[in-house]
Amino acid sequence: MKIGILGAGSIGATLATKLSRAGHEVKIANSRGPETIDSEIVAAGARAVEAADVVTDIEALIISVPLSRIPAIRPLIANLPSDAAILDTSNYYPMRDGQIQALDEGQVESVWVTEQLGRPVTKAWNAIGAGSFEAKGTAPGDPDRIAIPVAADREADKAIAMRLVEDTGFDAIDSGPLADSWRQQPGAPAYCTDLTRDEIPDALAAARKDLLPQRRDLAYAAIMEKIEKGETLISDDLVELNRGLSS
Ligand SMILES: NC(=O)c1ccc[n+]([C@@H]2O[C@H](COP(=O)([O-])OP(=O)(O)OC[C@H]3O[C@@H](n4cnc5c(N)ncnc54)[C@H](OP(=O)(O)O)[C@@H]3O)[C@@H](O)[C@H]2O)c1
Repeated sequence: MKIGILGAGSIGATLATKLSRAGHEVKIANSRGPETIDSEIVAAGARAVEAADVVTDIEALIISVPLSRIPAIRPLIANLPSDAAILDTSNYYPMRDGQIQALDEGQVESVWVTEQLGRPVTKAWNAIGAGSFEAKGTAPGDPDRIAIPVAADREADKAIAMRLVEDTGFDAIDSGPLADSWRQQPGAPAYCTDLTRDEIPDALAAARKDLLPQRRDLAYAAIMEKIEKGETLISDDLVELNRGLSS
Protein backbone atom coordinates (compact mmCIF):
# COMPACT_ATOMS: atom_id res chain seq x y z
CA MET A 1 0.00 0.00 0.00
CA LYS A 2 1.18 3.59 -0.65
CA ILE A 3 1.33 5.33 2.73
CA GLY A 4 2.24 8.87 3.79
CA ILE A 5 3.25 9.59 7.39
CA LEU A 6 3.15 13.13 8.70
CA GLY A 7 5.26 13.35 11.85
CA ALA A 8 8.58 11.60 12.38
CA GLY A 9 8.80 11.57 16.17
CA SER A 10 8.56 8.57 18.49
CA ILE A 11 5.42 7.12 16.93
CA GLY A 12 5.87 8.28 13.31
CA ALA A 13 9.41 6.87 13.16
CA THR A 14 8.31 3.45 14.43
CA LEU A 15 5.34 3.42 12.05
CA ALA A 16 7.58 4.24 9.09
CA THR A 17 10.10 1.56 10.04
CA LYS A 18 7.59 -1.21 10.70
CA LEU A 19 5.36 -0.47 7.70
CA SER A 20 8.36 -0.25 5.34
CA ARG A 21 9.64 -3.58 6.62
CA ALA A 22 6.17 -5.05 6.10
CA GLY A 23 6.49 -4.21 2.39
CA HIS A 24 4.56 -0.95 2.13
CA GLU A 25 5.70 2.03 0.06
CA VAL A 26 6.17 4.68 2.75
CA LYS A 27 6.86 8.42 2.52
CA ILE A 28 7.48 10.40 5.73
CA ALA A 29 7.74 14.11 6.55
CA ASN A 30 8.15 16.39 9.53
CA SER A 31 7.89 20.18 9.80
CA ARG A 32 11.62 20.89 9.29
CA GLY A 33 12.42 19.11 6.03
CA PRO A 34 13.55 15.69 4.76
CA GLU A 35 17.21 16.25 5.61
CA THR A 36 16.25 16.21 9.32
CA ILE A 37 14.55 12.80 9.18
CA ASP A 38 16.47 10.12 11.11
CA SER A 39 18.67 8.06 8.78
CA GLU A 40 17.49 4.82 10.43
CA ILE A 41 13.97 5.49 9.12
CA VAL A 42 15.34 5.88 5.61
CA ALA A 43 17.53 2.79 6.03
CA ALA A 44 14.37 0.79 6.82
CA GLY A 45 13.02 1.74 3.37
CA ALA A 46 10.89 4.86 3.91
CA ARG A 47 11.40 7.92 1.70
CA ALA A 48 11.93 11.25 3.49
CA VAL A 49 10.02 14.02 1.69
CA GLU A 50 8.72 17.56 2.21
CA ALA A 51 5.39 17.79 4.07
CA ALA A 52 3.68 19.02 0.88
CA ASP A 53 4.78 15.83 -0.92
CA VAL A 54 3.74 13.36 1.77
CA VAL A 55 0.03 13.75 0.95
CA THR A 56 0.22 13.11 -2.81
CA ASP A 57 -0.26 9.77 -4.61
CA ILE A 58 -1.05 7.75 -1.47
CA GLU A 59 -3.86 5.47 -0.30
CA ALA A 60 -3.51 6.24 3.42
CA LEU A 61 -2.17 9.22 5.36
CA ILE A 62 -1.10 8.63 8.96
CA ILE A 63 -1.03 11.81 11.02
CA SER A 64 1.31 11.54 14.01
CA VAL A 65 1.89 15.11 15.18
CA PRO A 66 0.98 16.73 18.52
CA LEU A 67 -2.76 17.37 18.58
CA SER A 68 -2.14 21.11 18.97
CA ARG A 69 -0.48 21.10 15.51
CA ILE A 70 -3.49 19.60 13.71
CA PRO A 71 -5.02 22.95 12.66
CA ALA A 72 -1.70 23.90 11.04
CA ILE A 73 -1.73 20.89 8.72
CA ARG A 74 -5.23 21.45 7.33
CA PRO A 75 -3.92 23.19 4.16
CA LEU A 76 -1.99 20.02 3.26
CA ILE A 77 -5.17 17.93 3.32
CA ALA A 78 -6.53 19.82 0.30
CA ASN A 79 -4.01 17.93 -1.87
CA LEU A 80 -4.72 14.51 -0.37
CA PRO A 81 -6.52 12.15 -2.82
CA SER A 82 -10.25 12.20 -1.98
CA ASP A 83 -10.41 8.43 -1.45
CA ALA A 84 -7.35 8.22 0.80
CA ALA A 85 -7.93 7.13 4.40
CA ILE A 86 -6.66 9.39 7.20
CA LEU A 87 -5.40 7.57 10.29
CA ASP A 88 -4.89 9.69 13.41
CA THR A 89 -2.58 8.74 16.31
CA SER A 90 -3.28 11.88 18.38
CA ASN A 91 -3.79 12.19 22.09
CA TYR A 92 -4.63 15.37 23.95
CA TYR A 93 -2.59 16.55 26.92
CA PRO A 94 -3.71 20.13 27.58
CA MET A 95 -0.77 20.85 29.86
CA ARG A 96 1.96 19.62 27.47
CA ASP A 97 4.35 22.16 25.85
CA GLY A 98 2.37 24.97 27.46
CA GLN A 99 -0.32 24.05 24.95
CA ILE A 100 -3.32 26.30 24.86
CA GLN A 101 -6.62 24.59 25.60
CA ALA A 102 -7.28 23.28 22.09
CA LEU A 103 -10.56 21.50 22.74
CA ASP A 104 -13.10 21.43 25.53
CA GLU A 105 -13.05 18.61 28.05
CA GLY A 106 -15.68 16.10 26.97
CA GLN A 107 -15.06 16.70 23.26
CA VAL A 108 -13.94 13.46 21.62
CA GLU A 109 -10.37 14.04 20.43
CA SER A 110 -10.55 12.44 17.00
CA VAL A 111 -14.01 13.89 16.32
CA TRP A 112 -12.36 17.28 16.91
CA VAL A 113 -9.55 16.27 14.52
CA THR A 114 -12.14 15.37 11.88
CA GLU A 115 -13.74 18.80 12.29
CA GLN A 116 -10.37 20.55 12.08
CA LEU A 117 -9.34 18.72 8.90
CA GLY A 118 -12.74 18.70 7.20
CA ARG A 119 -12.25 14.97 6.46
CA PRO A 120 -13.18 11.83 8.42
CA VAL A 121 -10.35 10.23 10.37
CA THR A 122 -9.76 6.83 11.93
CA LYS A 123 -8.24 6.68 15.43
CA ALA A 124 -5.45 4.11 15.61
CA TRP A 125 -2.16 3.51 17.47
CA ASN A 126 -3.06 6.24 19.99
CA ALA A 127 -3.50 3.73 22.82
CA ILE A 128 -0.04 2.16 22.77
CA GLY A 129 2.96 3.84 24.40
CA ALA A 130 5.96 4.60 22.20
CA GLY A 131 8.20 2.09 24.03
CA SER A 132 5.73 -0.77 23.79
CA PHE A 133 5.00 0.09 20.17
CA GLU A 134 8.65 -0.04 19.20
CA ALA A 135 9.58 -3.16 21.16
CA LYS A 136 6.58 -5.38 21.78
CA GLY A 137 5.10 -6.26 18.40
CA THR A 138 4.81 -10.01 17.77
CA ALA A 139 3.50 -12.41 15.13
CA PRO A 140 -0.24 -13.11 14.70
CA GLY A 141 -1.43 -16.01 16.85
CA ASP A 142 0.82 -15.20 19.83
CA PRO A 143 -1.57 -15.53 22.82
CA ASP A 144 0.19 -12.62 24.57
CA ARG A 145 0.06 -10.35 21.52
CA ILE A 146 -0.89 -6.80 22.57
CA ALA A 147 -4.07 -5.41 20.99
CA ILE A 148 -4.66 -1.90 19.63
CA PRO A 149 -8.18 -0.44 19.35
CA VAL A 150 -9.26 1.12 16.04
CA ALA A 151 -12.27 3.48 15.86
CA ALA A 152 -13.80 4.85 12.66
CA ASP A 153 -17.07 5.70 10.94
CA ARG A 154 -16.10 4.62 7.42
CA GLU A 155 -15.76 0.84 7.17
CA ALA A 156 -13.27 1.02 4.29
CA ASP A 157 -10.96 3.28 6.32
CA LYS A 158 -11.32 1.06 9.38
CA ALA A 159 -10.37 -2.01 7.33
CA ILE A 160 -7.20 -0.26 6.11
CA ALA A 161 -6.28 0.82 9.63
CA MET A 162 -6.86 -2.66 11.06
CA ARG A 163 -4.72 -4.26 8.38
CA LEU A 164 -1.90 -1.77 9.01
CA VAL A 165 -2.11 -2.21 12.80
CA GLU A 166 -1.67 -5.96 12.25
CA ASP A 167 1.30 -5.23 9.96
CA THR A 168 2.96 -3.32 12.82
CA GLY A 169 2.84 -6.42 15.05
CA PHE A 170 -0.35 -5.99 17.08
CA ASP A 171 -3.87 -7.41 17.10
CA ALA A 172 -6.34 -4.84 15.73
CA ILE A 173 -9.60 -4.53 17.69
CA ASP A 174 -12.66 -2.79 16.23
CA SER A 175 -13.58 -0.27 18.95
CA GLY A 176 -16.64 1.09 17.16
CA PRO A 177 -17.50 4.49 15.72
CA LEU A 178 -15.36 7.59 16.19
CA ALA A 179 -17.88 9.08 18.62
CA ASP A 180 -17.03 6.23 21.02
CA SER A 181 -13.26 6.65 20.69
CA TRP A 182 -13.11 8.51 24.03
CA ARG A 183 -13.01 4.95 25.42
CA GLN A 184 -9.40 4.67 24.19
CA GLN A 185 -8.25 8.18 25.12
CA PRO A 186 -5.73 9.03 27.86
CA GLY A 187 -7.12 8.15 31.30
CA ALA A 188 -9.17 5.21 30.00
CA PRO A 189 -8.48 1.58 31.06
CA ALA A 190 -7.57 0.58 27.48
CA TYR A 191 -5.08 3.44 27.09
CA CYS A 192 -1.43 2.37 27.13
CA THR A 193 -2.07 -0.64 29.37
CA ASP A 194 -0.75 -3.28 26.91
CA LEU A 195 -3.85 -5.48 27.01
CA THR A 196 -4.52 -8.48 24.80
CA ARG A 197 -7.36 -9.12 22.35
CA ASP A 198 -9.26 -10.97 25.11
CA GLU A 199 -8.78 -8.17 27.67
CA ILE A 200 -9.45 -5.05 25.61
CA PRO A 201 -13.27 -5.34 25.18
CA ASP A 202 -13.90 -5.24 28.95
CA ALA A 203 -11.46 -2.35 29.33
CA LEU A 204 -13.23 -0.35 26.60
CA ALA A 205 -16.60 -1.09 28.21
CA ALA A 206 -15.34 -0.04 31.67
CA ALA A 207 -14.23 3.45 30.56
CA ARG A 208 -15.90 6.39 32.34
CA LYS A 209 -15.92 9.62 30.37
CA ASP A 210 -16.24 11.79 33.46
CA LEU A 211 -13.04 10.33 34.96
CA LEU A 212 -10.79 10.66 31.90
CA PRO A 213 -9.40 14.20 32.44
CA GLN A 214 -8.59 13.57 36.08
CA ARG A 215 -6.83 10.25 35.40
CA ARG A 216 -5.01 11.62 32.33
CA ASP A 217 -3.71 14.59 34.34
CA LEU A 218 -2.68 12.39 37.29
CA ALA A 219 -0.67 10.11 35.00
CA TYR A 220 0.96 13.09 33.29
CA ALA A 221 1.86 14.73 36.63
CA ALA A 222 3.36 11.48 37.94
CA ILE A 223 5.48 11.09 34.80
CA MET A 224 6.69 14.70 34.91
CA GLU A 225 7.61 14.38 38.57
CA LYS A 226 9.82 11.37 37.83
CA ILE A 227 11.41 13.10 34.85
CA GLU A 228 12.15 16.23 36.91
CA LYS A 229 13.82 14.04 39.55
CA GLY A 230 16.05 12.61 36.81
CA GLU A 231 14.55 9.12 37.09
CA THR A 232 14.63 6.88 34.03
CA LEU A 233 11.22 5.71 32.89
CA ILE A 234 10.87 2.51 30.92
CA SER A 235 7.77 1.56 28.98
CA ASP A 236 6.74 -1.02 31.60
CA ASP A 237 6.69 1.75 34.27
CA LEU A 238 4.20 3.68 32.14
CA VAL A 239 2.07 0.60 31.60
CA GLU A 240 2.02 -0.11 35.35
CA LEU A 241 1.14 3.52 36.09
CA ASN A 242 -1.77 3.48 33.64
CA ARG A 243 -2.96 0.09 34.89
CA GLY A 244 -2.83 1.34 38.46
CA LEU A 245 -4.97 4.36 37.65
CA SER A 246 -7.63 2.15 36.10
CA SER A 247 -7.83 -0.49 38.79
N1 LIG B 1 4.76 9.16 22.53
C1 LIG B 1 3.80 8.25 22.80
O1 LIG B 1 3.98 7.34 23.66
C2 LIG B 1 2.51 8.28 22.03
C3 LIG B 1 1.72 7.13 21.99
C4 LIG B 1 0.57 7.10 21.20
C5 LIG B 1 0.18 8.26 20.53
N2 LIG B 1 0.91 9.39 20.63
C6 LIG B 1 0.42 10.59 19.93
O2 LIG B 1 0.96 10.55 18.61
C7 LIG B 1 1.31 11.87 18.17
C8 LIG B 1 2.81 11.91 17.92
O3 LIG B 1 3.45 11.59 19.13
P1 LIG B 1 5.05 11.50 19.23
O4 LIG B 1 5.36 11.08 20.63
O5 LIG B 1 5.59 10.72 18.09
O6 LIG B 1 5.44 13.04 19.06
P2 LIG B 1 6.87 13.68 18.87
O7 LIG B 1 7.93 12.70 19.18
O8 LIG B 1 6.84 15.00 19.58
O9 LIG B 1 6.94 13.97 17.28
C9 LIG B 1 6.07 14.87 16.67
C10 LIG B 1 6.38 14.93 15.19
O10 LIG B 1 5.42 15.79 14.59
C11 LIG B 1 6.09 16.61 13.66
N3 LIG B 1 5.31 17.81 13.38
C12 LIG B 1 4.87 18.73 14.25
N4 LIG B 1 4.18 19.69 13.60
C13 LIG B 1 4.19 19.36 12.29
C14 LIG B 1 3.68 19.96 11.13
N5 LIG B 1 2.98 21.10 11.18
N6 LIG B 1 3.92 19.36 9.93
C15 LIG B 1 4.63 18.21 9.88
N7 LIG B 1 5.14 17.58 10.96
C16 LIG B 1 4.93 18.17 12.15
C17 LIG B 1 7.40 16.91 14.33
O11 LIG B 1 8.31 17.38 13.39
P3 LIG B 1 9.36 18.54 13.75
O12 LIG B 1 10.16 18.01 14.88
O13 LIG B 1 10.11 18.73 12.48
O14 LIG B 1 8.53 19.75 14.13
C18 LIG B 1 7.75 15.53 14.88
O15 LIG B 1 8.38 14.75 13.89
C19 LIG B 1 0.86 12.81 19.29
O16 LIG B 1 -0.44 13.28 19.01
C20 LIG B 1 0.86 11.92 20.52
O17 LIG B 1 -0.05 12.38 21.51
C21 LIG B 1 2.10 9.42 21.33
